[in-house]
Amino acid sequence: MDIHKLEMFIAVMDSAGVTEAAGKLGVSPGAVSVQLHALANELHTELFRRMGKRLIPTPSAVRLAERVNLAGNVAAIEEIANRVNGSLAGGAPEPPEHYMATVPTSERWYRRHAGPARVTHWINVVCFTLLLMSGLQIFNAHPALYVGDRSDFDRPAMSIRAHLSENGLVGETMIVGHSFDTTGVLGVSSEDGQVSSRGFPSWITIPSNQDLATGRRWHFFFAWLLVLNGLVYFAWGCASRHFDRDLLPSRAELGHIWREVFEHLHLRFPRGAAAKRYNVLQQLAYLLVVFVLFPLMILTGLTMSPGIDSAMPQLLTLFGGRQTARLIHFIAASSLALFVIVHLVMVLVSGVWNNLRSMITGWYDLGNPRTTDVA
Ligand code: HEM
Repeated sequence: MDIHKLEMFIAVMDSAGVTEAAGKLGVSPGAVSVQLHALANELHTELFRRMGKRLIPTPSAVRLAERVNLAGNVAAIEEIANRVNGSLAGGAPEPPEHYMATVPTSERWYRRHAGPARVTHWINVVCFTLLLMSGLQIFNAHPALYVGDRSDFDRPAMSIRAHLSENGLVGETMIVGHSFDTTGVLGVSSEDGQVSSRGFPSWITIPSNQDLATGRRWHFFFAWLLVLNGLVYFAWGCASRHFDRDLLPSRAELGHIWREVFEHLHLRFPRGAAAKRYNVLQQLAYLLVVFVLFPLMILTGLTMSPGIDSAMPQLLTLFGGRQTARLIHFIAASSLALFVIVHLVMVLVSGVWNNLRSMITGWYDLGNPRTTDVA
């Protein structure tokens, strides 16, 4: 290995960038860039990542710089140059803080979410939570689902019931002919310290005691709030081109989908500038939520209203009857609940404060090498 490459590399590490290093060495910035590329190729490792106009050293670069600085004389540096190939990657430390401190504030903080996205997101969180809880209260009034236009009590597609056995009350959940004992959670659970027969337990319904009329009032209020909020989000999303810019994956992004799945399974998320965009799995999940699950939930909800049915009977035809609409409404709500669980886990594992800050204030910290992206 040519020792001049190492000299240039150290000059860049000790300067604010390539231009300053080139000035110190009395060569052109282009010459320094060429040598840095050549060094990285020779070592089969990435030495710098570009963030805006700055070069951020990778852990391998930090390790190499430490070795070269420790060597102290030309002979030792030459020896390092001959030995170093391939030994930089394993166990390399993160770049120390002072390297990151050279990233200017304007490039470190990225405005990730616009105001309307943030406000509508949090209103949606409140609406969805209360809709789910009041919806389960309404479901408890008749905890069974059917296909078609009417309730065929003998043949539900899904039911949550209680029956008396020798050992007392047993909760039984049946899904398309398969039954499970769900005592304690579904079918039979405790309410005010007393074992009682109810579909979903009291801690997840609003109100907690069985009260269909109040549950309906909460449900309809937050359903209309959700619709209004959704319309504002949709109008803003179209006007700002948020949907095609941020949510619609490009062909190239779709091509990386399996790599993204692999990275997610290993809990590895994009860092730095790469974290500016949602990854392809996030994009597909958000598209599914925004354009399939929420519209489906709203439309099937409307189909269950006799008033709306008389004005728009096509809805009943579209969904194959009121009971099928209720079944689809339940499946869409369950899918959204599943999405929220995964969504929250990803927020937790990928940098909870950075994600929450960005969804509250808009600002996302790209500069911290440990900051990551969420799904
Ligand atoms: C306390 C609960 C929640 C937290 C902490 C939370 C957090 C977040 C965060 C941090 C993001 C931004 C992700 C990023 O920048 O990569 C986000 C986006 C999003 N969240 Fe949530 N979320 C919550 C609940 C929900 C719920 C209940 C839904 C819908 C059922 C939802 C749907 C979405 C969608 C669709 C986006 C993308 C929005 C857009 O860019 O248009 N979230 N959430």
